[in-house]
Formats: sequence, C-alpha cells, structure tokens
Amino acid sequence: MLIFAIIMKRFPHKLSQKMLLRQENDALRSLPDKILGVDFSSNDYLGFSKREESSANINNLLVNFGVTSLGATGSRLLTGNHSLYNEAEKRIASYHNAEAALLFNSGYDANIGFFSSVPQKGDLILYDELIHASIRDGIQMSLAKGYKFKHNDLKDLEEKLKRYTQNTSNNEIYVVTESVFSMDGDTPDLQLIANICLSYQAFFVVDEAHGLGVFGNQGKGLVHQLGLTSSVFAVIYTYGKAMGCHGAAIVCSNELKNYLINFARSFIYTTGLPPHSVASIIQAYLDLEKTSQIQNLRDNIDFFVSQILKLGLQDQFVKSESAIQSCIVTGNSEVKYIAGNFQKCGFDVKPILSPTVPQGQERLRFCLHSYNTQDEIMEVLKLLVTFAQKVK
Ligand SMILES: Cc1ncc(COP(=O)(O)O)c(C=O)c1O
Repeated sequence: MLIFAIIMKRFPHKLSQKMLLRQENDALRSLPDKILGVDFSSNDYLGFSKREESSANINNLLVNFGVTSLGATGSRLLTGNHSLYNEAEKRIASYHNAEAALLFNSGYDANIGFFSSVPQKGDLILYDELIHASIRDGIQMSLAKGYKFKHNDLKDLEEKLKRYTQNTSNNEIYVVTESVFSMDGDTPDLQLIANICLSYQAFFVVDEAHGLGVFGNQGKGLVHQLGLTSSVFAVIYTYGKAMGCHGAAIVCSNELKNYLINFARSFIYTTGLPPHSVASIIQAYLDLEKTSQIQNLRDNIDFFVSQILKLGLQDQFVKSESAIQSCIVTGNSEVKYIAGNFQKCGFDVKPILSPTVPQGQERLRFCLHSYNTQDEIMEVLKLLVTFAQKVK
C-alpha cells in the first residue's frame, strides 16, 4: 500500500517541465467549474441538447425496437450490434443521399479510424493547415505521407498536388478539409476543391462537424447545399454539436463502409455506443427534418454579422457565415482577461489560447445559437468594444 502511494506520488520530471512551460505561457488548461451566463460558447447550436419533448420519443424508439439493454455490451463486431444501429445507419445514409453510413463512438474516433486505415503506405494526404486535431492524429497514425496546404489557399493546394504527385502514379491522393473550421468558423471553396480533386483523381474527404444542422436544406450541411454529395469520397458528421447528442458517422459508399468495418481500429476495438445514444441520434435527425430552430440560428448569424459591421469590428473578426464567430485578441493573458470580464457580466464567451491556435492568433470564440436573443447579441458586442479598449 505504502509502495503504491509513493509510486503514485512520483511524477516524471519531463512532464513537470512541460506543465511548468504551460504555466509560464499562461496556457495551463484546467476543467472549468459549473458554467454560468448567457451561452455564447457551447456547440449546442440549435438547443437540441435541451429538447425535453424528445426524451419520451427516444424512450419509445427503444421500446419499439425491443432494446432493453443499457449498454452495448461489446464491440459491434461481437455482441454490441443491437438492432437500432442498422435503423440509424439506414436513416443517416438516406438523409444525406448516400449509399451507406457507419456510426462511430465520436467524431474523434471517426477521424482517427478513417485516416489511420484508409490511406496506405505510399499514398498522399493533403490537409488544410488548420484541420482538426482528430484528423491530424489520424494522419500521424497512417503510413501515408501527409502534407499541409495553407489555410483555404487552393493555389497552394494545387501547387502541392503538382509537386508531390510527380513520380507517384500508382499511389492514391486524399484531400481533406472541414466545411466549417472549428476555431475560425470560416469555410473553404468546397466546389473548387472538388474540381481540383477531380482533375487529380484525388479522393475528397470533408469533415462537416460544424456544418450539420447549420447549412443546407433541413440542416443537411454544406456538402449537400452545394450539390457535392456525389463529388466526395466520405463525409464525417458528428452528433455532439448541433444534433445535441453524441457519436459520429462516416457517410460513404457500401464498399468503403465494409472496408472500415474490417480495418478501422477505433471502430473494431471498442465497445459500441449504448442503445440510448443511437436512439438519440435517430430522434435528432427526425427533429432536424422539421425544426424551425435552423432558421432562428441563421437569423441570429445574420444579425451578429450586421452588428459587427455596425460597430466597425469587422477587421478584428474572421469572416464567417457559420455559427462560429472568432474575434482575434493577441495574447493568452489578454484574451483570458476579456473572457473573465464577460463572465463577470453574465456572458459565457470562451477564450481560445495558444497552443490550441497559433501564437498571435489567440481569440474569443463566439458560438451562436438559435436561442440567443438579439438583445443578448447587441449587449455582448457592446461589452466586447469596452473590454477590447482596455487591453489595447
Ligand atoms: C471539426 C471537428 N471534427 C471532429 C471533432 C470531434 O468530434 P467529437 O466531439 O464528436 O469527438 C470536432 C470536435 O471538436 C471538430 O470540431
């Protein structure tokens, strides 16, 4: 017992050093206390996580499918493949006009599963330099070569494609981007990337984590809005954001789905999602089809952008038509100071620090929701003007 206590109390020196450096850079992360204040920070863009009326429907789905188990009880390849899974995947594929869908336990799992198993040794992956950590991690686990291109810079993408595809005729090329970048809220020209992919015969992959529920008819996302469903090899949709629940799906062909079932390790070697989570995803899609919250959210995005212009703040904000609006405030201490002041005034706006974003690009990230009021939006922006003057 005493030995355990001593071992547990020891801490590797190199780790202490790393923590110290974080502290010195005012970048030490810690779990927040209960979050209070007007929500300008969660990913619950449509308020779906709080739909009380859907709880009963989710329970009915479980009863109708005869699922009584609370947990999946195993990997989907063993005992975890309860009947709701097939139903959910059929509905997801149909909603997104695709052949197939495969559920993963999270967006993180979907991305590492895809990128660690699909691109093969000798293949090439070109990814936007601001791509999400889960895609980067997946690429790191892959034997393929990964090269980044400058953020939303399609000239750079083409140049890199030209440079890296010489003498690699037998190998495949994958190009990956996000429909909405999670820290900037901006959007690449997906149509142009699809054209470039076509001319290089590259496989195009899009992460729609922040596009689902925000863009497109019935919130189907930007790929659908732009009519690119048949131009993409795979799309990753995550359910912890606008859908208000948990999990993710890769929407793709039957052939790719079968491949992933066989080779994506984050799919194979893990317990499946519990039935309640799968039922919640089905219900979220049913609600998405008929909700008025998407229009409320779009109205709030338009209103927020119009207020930025009115207050002359447009140069500080990254240009965005999504629910994510980022105001650059250089310096971890500065951005934390402003976020702290927002908190004191009853507004929850998160500071995004380096190293999550590059040094000098620290920011306040305003996440907009269908349930924010115009008064709240006007007030939070007025406060921003006041606080920003104090850190100049
Ligand atoms: C672009 C993007 N992809 C994937 C993920 C991961 O999704 P999840 O939270 O379901 O793991 C996130 C979430 O932070 C994200 O922003």
